[in-house]
Amino acid sequence: MSKTTLLQRLKAETRPHHERAESAVRLMEPGLTLEHYRHHLEALYGFFAPLEASLASLLTGLMPELRVDERWKLPLLLKDLRALGHDAASLARLPRATQLPPLPGLPEALGCFYVLEGSTLGGQLILRHLQRHFAGTPAGDFAFFSAYGEAVGPMWRAFGEAVNRASEAQASESFDARVIQGARDTFDAFEHWLRQESAEFTTYP
Ligand code: HEM
Repeated sequence: MSKTTLLQRLKAETRPHHERAESAVRLMEPGLTLEHYRHHLEALYGFFAPLEASLASLLTGLMPELRVDERWKLPLLLKDLRALGHDAASLARLPRATQLPPLPGLPEALGCFYVLEGSTLGGQLILRHLQRHFAGTPAGDFAFFSAYGEAVGPMWRAFGEAVNRASEAQASESFDARVIQGARDTFDAFEHWLRQESAEFTTYP
């Protein structure tokens, strides 16, 4: 039987964390308004802006096969937020998450990146829902949830292969365990921030 890959382990060993993070996303609810959608994007911005900055300093140039520069989501969030009326001044006032996952090294950064990249998969379901839900409403292009468009599948496979190759090259259980811990901590920090942000917002009608 073939050996379990790190990508397979990540999926299996973070499943409860994914489920909790997924349950904090309330974009699929029938009563979703444009205001709630904008607020959700604002919360994502508050999480991705500081986190992608940390990831950039840890990963840029270290693993070229990851193609990190093609994967940043902040420009997509900015596009959506500007379409919904934000400008530089209002963006600068948005709250930023302070409880980010600890990223002491490359393995944790890889686990964190796994979570951000994997969210493009569930993002495709959310995209289809938003397109239907907001049909005829000026809600922007849903750039964040579209992510890489037609290339979401290939980008995900390329990411997975890079992660598995890194794990094979290290051949160390402690490396894999740190990647998995980085992913778990990222899911948990995301969930925590989203719940905190939506608690401050009015409840759905
Ligand atoms: C309503 C919210 C969400 C839904 C419906 C959803 C749904 C899904 C689905 C269906 C997949 C599997 C896709 C496939 O195998 O082709 C997936 C994968 C994944 N999602 Fe989500 N997701 C949601 C939110 C999130 C969030 C908020 C994150 C991260 C913060 C996330 C991270 C991931 C990751 C890392 C994977 C890859 C799992 C793997 O290793 O195969 N998801 N999601």
